[in-house]
Amino acid sequence: MIVFVPKETQNSETRVAASPETVKKLTGMGCEVHVEKGAGINSRITDEHFKAAGAKISFASSAGNADVVLKVLRPTAAEASKYKKGALVLAIMDPYGNEKQIASIASAGVSAFAMEFMPRITRAQVMDVLSSQANLAGYQAVIEGAAEFGRAFPMMMTAAGTVPAAKCFVMGAGVAGLQAIATARRLGAVVTATDVRPAAKEQVESLGAKFIAVEDEEFKQAETAGGYAKEMSKEYQAKQAELVAAHIAKQDIVITTALIPGRPAPKLVSSEMVKSMAPGSVLVDLAVERGGNVEGAKPGSVSRVDDVSIVGHLNMPGRIAASASLLYAKNLLSFLSTMIDPETGKLTVDREDELVSATMLTHGGGIVHPNFKDVPVAKAAAKKAPARKAPARKASAAKPAAKKAATTKATGEGK
Ligand code: NAI
Repeated sequence: MIVFVPKETQNSETRVAASPETVKKLTGMGCEVHVEKGAGINSRITDEHFKAAGAKISFASSAGNADVVLKVLRPTAAEASKYKKGALVLAIMDPYGNEKQIASIASAGVSAFAMEFMPRITRAQVMDVLSSQANLAGYQAVIEGAAEFGRAFPMMMTAAGTVPAAKCFVMGAGVAGLQAIATARRLGAVVTATDVRPAAKEQVESLGAKFIAVEDEEFKQAETAGGYAKEMSKEYQAKQAELVAAHIAKQDIVITTALIPGRPAPKLVSSEMVKSMAPGSVLVDLAVERGGNVEGAKPGSVSRVDDVSIVGHLNMPGRIAASASLLYAKNLLSFLSTMIDPETGKLTVDREDELVSATMLTHGGGIVHPNFKDVPVAKAAAKKAPARKAPARKASAAKPAAKKAATTKATGEGK
């Protein structure tokens, strides 16, 4: 079985979908791994590192021989058309708003898996790309904010005088926000945080930060069964805005990470709030790719409002690519391993497996994910993929319940 790891074609993408460790594991499982020349260079992994781990260094043209393609970002239509019919493609597919692109991947006859749809169940934690990448994004947001701030984070009492500790406010205490809190604390800032999920309060406090939120009845109900945030009422948003407005005016650094699955990011920081901050203050908007939490945040750049900086870098995990690639590669390996028969080394895709049904977007020339079943696929280009027999897997007793939970998560939440 041939696994191909291409060099990402989008210039802004610095990550790579394999690491020497994952190559070694895949070759150990009997796979022939081909890595495109230079694929790891922006992640500090040289061709020699990959070669030493057992990979063959090849060119983009090798994609057509691969049974499995491991990518960071969704392949373009042109890339997918070069893949072998029936090949498995694992990537962050970002299908919402990109239905046309998904249809062209379907037309290419490949089986595309959206890694971001992985259900958040215990078995799949090691495959959770949202968590692995958000964790590093949270860390990097603080590093970028600190660099822009141009002053020290910790309080320093020196013979020449005292430097006050920076005040850092983190909005949204999910995976990225919690890591941002931990990082800002490690750097010595005085940290506060907010979230609309009541469960976040304890997590924030356990990291040594102070929780700031309007804790009314709506707040107490504000969490979906899957653990994600709900969109809050206009009334709640107004009350929360009032509370945080006074708080933001006293902050040096604000890091926003607030997201609601399937919706544009909530606007949490208005222009007035930005203007209320002292000169030299910094905001880092991690939600900028989904519309942004901060008014005035510009995707892909650092903007200035008066003397306040708003950092709107895209692809924050890509700014710490050497670490992000290692974790992402491990996520992919863990998922792919579930589809490789340990005895024969052959691909065995079990459509009944909840991990497969939650993540599989396209198969056999069509779109198979329930969230996109109405998206038209060009028939002329559609070709049948070779049928893959689902293996007789050991069904776990917990499967039907777990499967339902996974479907709710991947479909019901619109993620
Ligand atoms: P996310 O990326 O969807 O959102 C980030 C944070 O923004 C969330 O904490 C959300 O509550 C918050 N938020 C949304 N609207 C807000 C508003 N108006 N004001 C303030 N904050 C707002 O969330 P993420 O990081 O994916 O985590 C969501 C949940 O999933 C968390 O409970 C996390 O602990 C849980 N989780 C579970 C995993 C598992 O069981 N394997 C793995 C990772 C996360």
